[in-house]
Amino acid sequence: MRLRREHRILWRLYGYSARLLKTKLFRTAASNTSFPEVWLLLVQYFERLPGFFWVVQRNSFFTMPEILENKADLELYSPHPEVRGMTTLDRAAFKRTIVVPVLKVKKEVINKLLKSLKHITLHRPGLKRVIDDPKDEDRLVLLDPHKISAEYSLGESEQEILKQFNIDPQVSKYNLELTYDNFKTEEILRAVLPVGQDVTSGFTRIGHIAHLNLRDHQLPYKHLIGQVIIDKNPGITCSVNKINIIDNTYRNFQMEVLAGEANMITKTRENNITYEFDFSKVYWNSRLSTEHGRIIELLKPGDVLFDVFAGVGPFAIPAAKKKCSVFANDLNPESYKWLLHNCKLNKVDKNIKNFNMDGRDFLLGPVKEELTKELPLLTKERKNTLHIVMNLPALAIKFLDVFKHLLDGKPCSTDLLPTVHCYSFSKHDSPAKDVQEWAEVFLGTSLEGRCSTHLVRSVAPNKEMMCISFQIPAEVLFKKQCTHEGKLKSSAGNFRVFQLYTLSQIILEKKKTAFDGFKTRILSAMGLIRVSFSGVIPIC
Ligand SMILES: C[S@@+](CC[C@H](N)C(=O)[O-])C[C@H]1O[C@@H](n2cnc3c(N)ncnc32)[C@H](O)[C@@H]1O
Repeated sequence: MRLRREHRILWRLYGYSARLLKTKLFRTAASNTSFPEVWLLLVQYFERLPGFFWVVQRNSFFTMPEILENKADLELYSPHPEVRGMTTLDRAAFKRTIVVPVLKVKKEVINKLLKSLKHITLHRPGLKRVIDDPKDEDRLVLLDPHKISAEYSLGESEQEILKQFNIDPQVSKYNLELTYDNFKTEEILRAVLPVGQDVTSGFTRIGHIAHLNLRDHQLPYKHLIGQVIIDKNPGITCSVNKINIIDNTYRNFQMEVLAGEANMITKTRENNITYEFDFSKVYWNSRLSTEHGRIIELLKPGDVLFDVFAGVGPFAIPAAKKKCSVFANDLNPESYKWLLHNCKLNKVDKNIKNFNMDGRDFLLGPVKEELTKELPLLTKERKNTLHIVMNLPALAIKFLDVFKHLLDGKPCSTDLLPTVHCYSFSKHDSPAKDVQEWAEVFLGTSLEGRCSTHLVRSVAPNKEMMCISFQIPAEVLFKKQCTHEGKLKSSAGNFRVFQLYTLSQIILEKKKTAFDGFKTRILSAMGLIRVSFSGVIPIC
């Protein structure tokens, strides 16, 4: 009775202080006084006022500083408070004793009983749910304090189960020692980093390497975080942190080894294909696996794929596995080296021709040569499709002008024209429209109704990676006589010969839709247009 009364008083006090804290100190709505929410506020506040924390510790909940008894206590599974601020990992310091409910059970029935009580047993990393009772031959089943009532009594359905097994439903308390091994990554980092700071432990995995992207406030703890990631993720033996954004030519990360062996040569699998490479010297992004798969899905055996910025082969190798004929290129000698290696590793070196040159030279050389050879061979019967993949999102779109009048001879029929899949970043409100406009600028023609755009992924809150796919219009790809020639007089009195070509339509469209000054300047710099008093004059 006395205990219940104390409990009620404490609960009232808690509710009152919760509202007080939220409204007076944190200026948030008083209505939400849920335990987790308020607990976090209290912890924050006590950190600021250590004296007050001490009083609360002594007079109310915490009779034994290391033992937490409150069922609803969010901090129940938190490591020893002394680890706060630790920068060099000391695993032993995380040890903590907590009180958990246990059921005493005869060893003969333990397996059957565990199945029925699975929903209330204690689940912690590296912890056995059943332990020997030191007093006799029986076993003790550890129960989850969050799933048992404050009075340590079991629910009706659980009591019914115990009755069937002839087990006493009496729940007792047990002092359980939790060690570093029994805490989850997030619990460890939340205990170490300053209160209230984000403890993101997310990483991408590339074989044995965990690739982190730590924020500034996490940097003082970087080596500890790196080691915890290794400890808690079987198979990971090295953790690295991205140092800066990728802005170098070869798009590889500048990285720092945080913990573990500094071996950057790794092996990973994507869409059932194995890749090996030196992660510090080439580009690899596990987040692109769906996109790689999407493009490969479009290909049929016998199709031709030109991969202009191939990296270590995540488009090229699966395409070759699918019996496509592949031409892969990368400017980075390291990427090229691993591309060759991965072709051998996946036994597709017969289907791939690899190149180590600038993308523009690749398009003007091997691609042009192959298109010239292949296109006349394509007929209604032999209808293999040709695809050109250009995954260098920061720059690829600027390479599209290479297709302008690339091929001599008579244009092939529309359905045989090669399909380009060109990637681009966009920070625009309508990224699809933005990317299409840029592609039109560099191709010098309108793609309206002749392209599709696909959102690959959001790179940052206001930055999308897009893929625009289109068949290169015949009037772009093939050298062609002008359809019309004319003379236009500017209001300055100058005459200029220009071709009445689709480019003029784009310019007019873009003028209508408030074509922004920047793009006009770029066009102008490229010699595609001349801005005069009479407006924008296209120059073909
Ligand atoms: C974003 S990565 C894409 C790699 C691979 N296709 C993928 O999807 O993972 C771009 C690649 O283009 C290569 N690269 C950069 N500039 C290049 C250029 N001018 N010509 C050819 N390759 C280039 C880089 O070395 C890098 O491997």
